[in-house]
Amino acid sequence: MDSEITEDRGSAPTVVLGITGCIAAYKACELTRALVRDGVRVKAVMTEAATRFVGPLTLRTLTNEPVAASLWDDPATAPVHHISLAEEADVFLIAPCTANVLAKLATGRADDILTTTALATEAPLVIAPAMNVHMWRDEATQFNLRVLRDRGAIIVEPATGELACGDVGEGRLAELGDILDAVRAELGRVKDLAGVRMLVTAGPTYEPIDPVRFIGNRSSGKTGFYIAEEAARRGADVTLVTGPTHLRDPFGVHTVRVTTAVEMHAVAMEAYETAQVVVASAAVSDFRPAVPSAEKTKKEDAPSAVELVRNPDILAEMGAAKGERTLVGFAAETSEIVAHAREKLAAKSLDLVVANDVGVAGLGFASDRNVVTLVSGEGEKQLSEMSKRALAREICDWLGARQARR
Ligand SMILES: Cc1cc2nc3c(=O)[nH]c(=O)nc-3n(C[C@H](O)[C@H](O)[C@H](O)COP(=O)(O)O)c2cc1C
Repeated sequence: MDSEITEDRGSAPTVVLGITGCIAAYKACELTRALVRDGVRVKAVMTEAATRFVGPLTLRTLTNEPVAASLWDDPATAPVHHISLAEEADVFLIAPCTANVLAKLATGRADDILTTTALATEAPLVIAPAMNVHMWRDEATQFNLRVLRDRGAIIVEPATGELACGDVGEGRLAELGDILDAVRAELGRVKDLAGVRMLVTAGPTYEPIDPVRFIGNRSSGKTGFYIAEEAARRGADVTLVTGPTHLRDPFGVHTVRVTTAVEMHAVAMEAYETAQVVVASAAVSDFRPAVPSAEKTKKEDAPSAVELVRNPDILAEMGAAKGERTLVGFAAETSEIVAHAREKLAAKSLDLVVANDVGVAGLGFASDRNVVTLVSGEGEKQLSEMSKRALAREICDWLGARQARR
């Protein structure tokens, strides 16, 4: 037996490697060897079709771990194998990934051990597709890829060249080095915010005019929720203070729900006392009605004007009492985005401003996608259009890198 696979890897990071029914399945063996050489514990999970291309015994030998190739394995050895595998994964890599498994992942199907484990895992999903060029270009495949990317999956794009079927074009499994880089990057992120006490604010605030009417805004809260969830996954101890949204509490996050800016101010400033990192993504209303009516105002009594008063500027207050904390703010702009972000950076003593271009039709507030520039003391980073989940990962990357420098 190979000496590399006999050492104890009890505390090693775990990659669950999904293998599907492609000609390139044999390359999963090389990937396994490289990961094992990195000190990673690899647990292979195979579709039935994959076992026709490469034998489970080969993977069993290379990983020195049992191989999961059926949902219906002996329950004495693996009681609910897909759930234990899902929980053990620090990264879930599927390489190579068929068009078929891409489609199943995009629609949440779970009819074999691989797709059931993928649905059950909280780990980041890295997918390296491999297929014939026409299968790759098919609209259905491209649609499935978009769905998966928007959900936060990392797609390692296939390379272009001669394919096993004789066609030439894109569809070859990416270079193994590129797949390994993507996995290593995800493993590096795994606990880069470990133990960091973090406060995230999110969502709009509702400022009552009377018991049924309010002044609000169109913030969905998604970006803040995704940041809170991603940071918690990376080991941070996260408190999320959110205004009204329809979103569920993120997994592993202490979530406090408030309604008005004044309530958000009270809860956020209390959590601020002990926070080391603050991400203020809430769209806090600047004003509130001076005297909200205790009773619902009748149609015929409609006031000709509603007097407004300023709400507390939570972020400015945090900036004024900043100490050693890292402060991240957001700016929604339609023009001179970077210049306005720089002004905000200085005025509120922020370390990073996520400058959001809300002037682009279909992006921003109500959408799932954003175009942003990260503006900090070190410079600017213009990000391409991406999902809010991917943006959450970028912001946590920035925070993780900053924590590492401290
Ligand atoms: C020789 C051969 C090679 C194949 N190569 C691929 C491939 O590279 N990519 C792909 O998506 N499907 C490929 N297929 C088709 C899949 O094996 C088929 O869709 C199967 O149902 C996939 O099962 P799975 O996705 O559960 O692994 C190939 C089939 C055969 C017979």
